Amino acid sequence: MKRPILIHPDPRLKKVCTPVSDLSDDLRQLADDMLETMYDAPGIGLAAPQVGVTRRLIVLDCVKDEGEAPRPLVMFNPDVVASSDETNTYEEGCLSIPDQYAEVTRPKLVDVRWIDRNGNEQNETFDGLWATCVQHEIDHLNGKLFIDYLGAMRRQMITRRMQKLKREQARA
Ligand code: NI
Repeated sequence: MKRPILIHPDPRLKKVCTPVSDLSDDLRQLADDMLETMYDAPGIGLAAPQVGVTRRLIVLDCVKDEGEAPRPLVMFNPDVVASSDETNTYEEGCLSIPDQYAEVTRPKLVDVRWIDRNGNEQNETFDGLWATCVQHEIDHLNGKLFIDYLGAMRRQMITRRMQKLKREQARA
């Protein structure tokens, strides 16, 4: 089932999310719903607070080639355990900040540890777009958005645009 995506600014997008201790069917259903919502948007990553659930859960799939098989990843309690000094700059966007993009510089490589949909611990090194995406999504779990990496003027400009968008949506 698709879930509505919260638009910035929203207090739920600023919360530090709580870890998942028991993998319930409800949480697995939430993960499945988030994947459906992400693919439908379409997007390459989504964090639980973006659908109003302040728990440490993200989903992502950065496969871009149409011919390549999808690779949906579900991560409970994801953590960056190591990151490279070398950095990468990507133009980032966010489903909670529609149609706004900005360059953000982050470590190029990250080792991430997480619990998968079956409750098993996983560990993988991500590079390129995958590395940027997983860091962007983990930031959401700590109440941080990609616009927090920008200067105050730019951030305020984008926030005002989103406030206007939300007013328009509320009237519609
Ligand atoms: Ni985002």
